[in-house]
Amino acid sequence: MITNREPRVSFSNLTAEDLRRKRSAKWGVAGPDVLASWVADMDFPVAPEIKEVLLSMLECDDFGYSDQKTSQLLAELFAVRYGVRHGLKLDPEMVILTSDVVQAMAACVHAFTEADDKVVFFTPTYPPFFNVVKDLSRKIVTFDLVKRNQGYSLDFDGFEKVVDENRPKVLLLCNPHNPTGKVFSREELTLLADIALRYSMTVVADEIHCDLVFEGYKHIPIATLNEDLAKNTVTLSSASKTFNIAGLHCAQVAFGSKELLATFRNFPSILLGGVSSLGIEAAITAYSQASSWLDAVMDVLHRNRSLVEEWASAFPEMGFVKPEGTYLAWMDLGFLNLGPGLTDMIKDEAQLVLSDGLAFGPAGSGHVRVNFATSEEILRGILERLRVFIETHGT
Ligand SMILES: Cc1ncc(COP(=O)(O)O)c(C=O)c1O
Repeated sequence: MITNREPRVSFSNLTAEDLRRKRSAKWGVAGPDVLASWVADMDFPVAPEIKEVLLSMLECDDFGYSDQKTSQLLAELFAVRYGVRHGLKLDPEMVILTSDVVQAMAACVHAFTEADDKVVFFTPTYPPFFNVVKDLSRKIVTFDLVKRNQGYSLDFDGFEKVVDENRPKVLLLCNPHNPTGKVFSREELTLLADIALRYSMTVVADEIHCDLVFEGYKHIPIATLNEDLAKNTVTLSSASKTFNIAGLHCAQVAFGSKELLATFRNFPSILLGGVSSLGIEAAITAYSQASSWLDAVMDVLHRNRSLVEEWASAFPEMGFVKPEGTYLAWMDLGFLNLGPGLTDMIKDEAQLVLSDGLAFGPAGSGHVRVNFATSEEILRGILERLRVFIETHGT
């Protein structure tokens, strides 16, 4: 239900001029007339509660190393919240903090596989999945999601065949899925869990978008489905996407069993570095005090998603699939037949920066990813620029 809740900060009066003053990557690439709609950061101000805690740290020059007790508190809070919100019971003793979700994913792949072992994931996918596997000299096995009228789905027989032929040691699961916005259903996850168990795969579940799910869908952690699979599953998450604090680098990693954690510990912890004390404090505040901010953000994202859907209906060739979660719209512009370099053309001609589909693997060819976590006015500007581009190149 959309409630029009009034947040303590405004999500509507953003201006591109103000956003361009930010030093972080998203708007940092934007010249004076450019609109930035690429990397998965929101344009919204962060929750006032988070800002307050960070300001109080700035005021007393509190930039020291993080404290063990505070890290422990975050692990406990994360475990409780994941249980309440997503139904996954976690043991705080088996939750560790890392700087990034991607870093934790890489450490898991390193710990649970040997060189030349295979790792499987669904494509298109968040680009670092490729780097994690390739950079560690493991072998990538991909399986494409299929677009149907209702959304993206998995051909389970086909997937099982690929698993049977390749025998991957690890399944990297991105749920909710970036870039398609798919939220895997209980039925799908049950089938996946069954395949993972039968082929003894360790599951590394990237659930960073778990809180960004639209009405009608529910985030189900794969580790809730089956106790045996849970023992062999690592669940990765972070407050960074949900609360728009990616630059504070503080992720949470939950192991399903002591044995799995012990195997992970073989990875030299010195290579994991430390976690920022500001990131820990911000995550604690986010998880414990910022839920009304998140509700208000979800209302805006819901309206923005409708705007994108309405806009996309003018281009039926695109076969746009409304995302079930995330604030990312995955658009197939293949009907324009423009070949590689699509987003460079869009940037040059439309002064608009989007994520290029090819970075998400060959299945992303001809696609672009639009980030709709911005004000309605800026989103209308983004969509208008894209409309003109499409109409200029369409037949
Ligand atoms: C699916 C997914 N995983 C991980 C990340 C990045 O997380 P981190 O910055 O903690 O590595 C993102 C960022 O957009 C993402 O979409």
